[in-house]
Amino acid sequence: MSQNSEFPVLKGITDKLKRPVRDLRISVTDRCNFRCTYCMPAEIFGEKYEFLPRPHILTFEEIERLARVFAAAGVSKLRITGGEPLVRANLPELISSLSKIDGIDDIALTTNGYLLAKNAQALKDAGLNRLTISLDSIDEDIFKKMSGRPQGPENTLEGVKVATELGFDPIKINVVVQRGVNDHTLVDTARYFRGTGAIVRFIEFMDVGTKNGWDLSQVVTSKEVIDMIGEEFPLEPVDANYVGEVASRYRYTDGAGEIGVISSVSEPFCGSCTRARLSTDGKLVTCLFASGGTDFKEALRSGATDEDLAAMVAKVWTSRDDRYSELRSKDTEFKAGGSDDKVEMYYIGG
Ligand code: GTP
Ligand code: 5AD
Ligand code: SF4
Ligand code: SF4
Repeated sequence: MSQNSEFPVLKGITDKLKRPVRDLRISVTDRCNFRCTYCMPAEIFGEKYEFLPRPHILTFEEIERLARVFAAAGVSKLRITGGEPLVRANLPELISSLSKIDGIDDIALTTNGYLLAKNAQALKDAGLNRLTISLDSIDEDIFKKMSGRPQGPENTLEGVKVATELGFDPIKINVVVQRGVNDHTLVDTARYFRGTGAIVRFIEFMDVGTKNGWDLSQVVTSKEVIDMIGEEFPLEPVDANYVGEVASRYRYTDGAGEIGVISSVSEPFCGSCTRARLSTDGKLVTCLFASGGTDFKEALRSGATDEDLAAMVAKVWTSRDDRYSELRSKDTEFKAGGSDDKVEMYYIGG
C-alpha cells in the first residue's frame, strides 16, 4: 500500500528538488561494540561517555508506527543501522514486525558483524532480506587499528560465513578507505572476497559528524581504488541495479564477481537521494550532513494520531532541499569538515 490513500497528505510527495522518499534508514541504538577511529574514536567514546538513556530511545512499537507512515509516503526499503544494531536486544522482533508492513519489500541491516554469527539465523527467520557488513581491512593489525578493538577480523568473517551459508545474497562488505591507513590493504581485501559472492564496496572517507578529524588529503578517490584493484584483477563497469544506486558497480572480467565504489566526495549523488533517516531518539534527519532533525518522539508520546504523524512527515519532506555533498564538491572553500554542528554517524547510522 505505498502511496496509501489512508493519508492523502502523503500522496505523491516529493521534496523541493523533486525527489520522492523511498528509503528509510532506522538507527536502533547509538551504542557500538567497536570504536572505529573515524566514527567513535576511543579517546572520546570512553567508559565515561554518556550514550542516550533508555527512555530517550524509540521503542519497537514506536519505530513500527513511524515505518507504517513512511510506507504510506512511498518508502519501500528499510535499512536498520546503529551504532551497532545487533547490540540492541531482541532486534529480530522488530524486523519481524517491519516485514509485515504493506509496501515494505526490502529490509536490510548494516552491521560490523561481530555478533552476526549467533544472530544470523534469527534475523533470517524474522524476514531480514539483506546484509551489509562493515570490514575495513582483512589485515589483522589494520583491522584492530581502525576498529579500535583488540580483536582481529575473525568474528566478522565468521559472521559473513554463517550468513552466506544461510543464503543471504548478495552480502555486501563496506570498506571505508582512508589514505595512509588502509589503502595499502585494499587489494588484499578484494582478493579475500573474490569468488565468494560477497560484493566489496569501497567508500570514500567522508566528513560526517565532527569527531573524525576529516580532511581531504585522507580521501582516496574511487577512481584511484578502481585503478589499484584493476591493475591486479582487471575490471569492467556494470550498469546500476536501480536508479539512484549509491555504489557504482564493476565486475572482474574473469567472472570472479563484482565490487562497488561509493564516491560521495568525488562524485556526489544528491540528485537522486531518496533517503530519510530516523535517529535512535526519533528525530527525522533529511541529510547525512544535517545539523539536526525533526522530533517525532515527542509527537509519538504526546498523543499524536497517525494522521498527525503523516502531516509531520509531509511537512518535513516537502520542505527538504538538502544536497550537502554536491555543495561541498562545487565549492572547495566550503566548510566541509570544519562545521561543528553536524549530527554524528553513530546516531543516524550512515
Ligand atoms: P543498497 O544499495 O541498498 O545495498 O544500499 P546502499 O548502497 O545505500 O548501502 P549502504 O547503506 O551500505 O551505504 C553505503 C555507504 O554509502 C554508507 O555507509 C555511507 O558511507 C554512504 N552513503 C549511503 N547513503 C548516503 C547518502 O545519502 N549520502 C552520502 N553522502 N553517503 C551515503
Ligand atoms: N565516511 C564513510 N563511511 C563511513 N561510515 C562510517 N563513518 C564513515 C565516514 N566518515 C560507514 C561505516 C559503515 C556504515 C554504517 O557507514 O563503515 O559501513
Ligand atoms: Fe561502530 Fe559502525 Fe561506528 Fe564502527 S562505523 S564505531 S562499527 S557504528
Ligand atoms: Fe543525500 Fe545529503 Fe548524502 Fe546528498 S549529502 S546524498 S542529500 S544524504
